[in-house]
Amino acid sequence: MTKTNASNYKIVSGSWEELKLDAQMIRTRVFIQEQNIAAEDEWDEQDSISLHFIVYDDHQAIATARLLQNNSIGRVAVLSSHRGLGIGKLLMLEIIQVAKNQGRNQIHLSAQEHAIPFYNGLGFKQKGEFYLDCGIPHINMDLSVI
Ligand code: COA
Repeated sequence: MTKTNASNYKIVSGSWEELKLDAQMIRTRVFIQEQNIAAEDEWDEQDSISLHFIVYDDHQAIATARLLQNNSIGRVAVLSSHRGLGIGKLLMLEIIQVAKNQGRNQIHLSAQEHAIPFYNGLGFKQKGEFYLDCGIPHINMDLSVI
């Protein structure tokens, strides 16, 4: 596991085995309970082979995301109680830096429509048309990290 301290928050990256309790707690609250995504859609085979990130406020896990082997970032989630504080941005900047350090030149993600301005603010650009995933409009977005 790797730890980074940024402002008041600590970001930890590690394997699914190392971080799944916290990642599961956050994703259950955000995607399954808040966004009504079916549990069978939320958990997939990518979890066991992705690099996971958790943001901690003191000892409380408040945000998560995963960096997949195919150079995409997914399952970006901040607890509703902690949104609008810059935590999502902090988390994304950390993942982008890790991806860059790993020599990845392009990062992809599938953005829920409401989150497009959030990703635009980090430099991601929309690509292609909207499509439905789990009944939610999404669009592909790319960031060049060279
Ligand atoms: N619409 C417009 N701008 C937004 C936004 C939104 N929905 N959410 C964040 N932003 C902007 C902020 O204003 C801020 O702008 P600034 O840098 O100019 O000040 C910037 O994005 C960073 O915001 P931040 O406070 O770091 O975002 P957050 O911690 O609230 O996290 C999400 C953003 C999308 C991760 C969070 O709302 C979330 O977890 N939502 C539920 C799960 C979800 O939909 N995840 C995305 C799946 S693709």
